Amino acid sequence: MTDRRLIISELELVLKKSRVIHTLGVEEMAIRMAGIFGEDRDKASLAALFHDYAKYINDVDMLKLAEHYGIYVDDVYADAPNLMHGPVGAKLIQEKFGINDSDVLNAITYHTVGRAGMSLLEKIIYVADMTEKNRDFPGVQELREKATENIDEAMILCLEQTIAYTLKRRKKIHINSIQTYNSIIENIRR
Ligand SMILES: [Fe+2]
Ligand SMILES: [Fe+2]
Repeated sequence: MTDRRLIISELELVLKKSRVIHTLGVEEMAIRMAGIFGEDRDKASLAALFHDYAKYINDVDMLKLAEHYGIYVDDVYADAPNLMHGPVGAKLIQEKFGINDSDVLNAITYHTVGRAGMSLLEKIIYVADMTEKNRDFPGVQELREKATENIDEAMILCLEQTIAYTLKRRKKIHINSIQTYNSIIENIRR
């Protein structure tokens, strides 16, 4: 299913109104970034629209779905099952809507914690998620500007935000976030 109108009506069934607004903001930003960095705009739109599809699945069901789909639940995921709305969401939309583009599915899977060696589309969704027009936190404006200038620098700023926020709340940091950071730093040095 790739019809945008149909997708939005599916989203309205499972997401709160504010989350639909956020999703449309991510889509707008992702399409803009795709134009700037030379990514396929349709893929950016599709991945953005579905990125938070599983956001409101409760912890018990999230853990059940993770088991059902063979997603490895590490200690950080076990502590905060909602982090798995990325990987679980990707599996659900593949099964329910027949979306099989691996880059789109990976962009959804890794939009929460990232991974080493992210593709351009994965980075676009990760950054667009944090910089879309409805986001409001200290430093968001600087991040928004970077998001349309230099994707790797924008990734670093996003990771800085996410990791600092996690540290402040005394929560565990997912190993993927650290690996994402290290891998981008290596990219930038090259
Ligand atoms: Fe999300
Ligand atoms: Fe999101």
